[in-house]
Amino acid sequence: PGTPYIRVTPSMLKQKTGRKGKDAWTVLGGRVYNITPYLPFHPGGEPELLRCAGRDGTRLFNEVHPWVNWEGMLAACLVGIYVTEEEEGN
Ligand code: HEM
Repeated sequence: PGTPYIRVTPSMLKQKTGRKGKDAWTVLGGRVYNITPYLPFHPGGEPELLRCAGRDGTRLFNEVHPWVNWEGMLAACLVGIYVTEEEEGN
């Protein structure tokens, strides 16, 4: 069976700040990633990476390093897809 990818809304994402022992999640290109295991390996450091935690990091990411292949790098960290509250019936 495949990985059970989930649908993530903005209110769910907002909890995943990477602070207070919580996981850090971000959105890149409409996909949601758990970036917690990558934090110690980010060449730009943890604080920089955490700036995209709990929110859509697409624009910030592309401002800093549009050449980085996040899809390939973070394939194992994929959580699911980003949906609006409306799409989720909230
Ligand atoms: C460097 C990955 C998010 C800031 C890098 C590099 C990779 C990477 C592979 C090395 C690039 C190279 O040398 O060509 C990622 C991934 C991210 C992410 C997978 C998201 C999941 C961010 C964010 C910021 C950031 C949100 C800032 C707000 C930086 C900086 C460097 C860097 C400043 C340059 C470090 C240096 O060369 O001294 N990142 N990054 N990154 N990243 Fe990220």
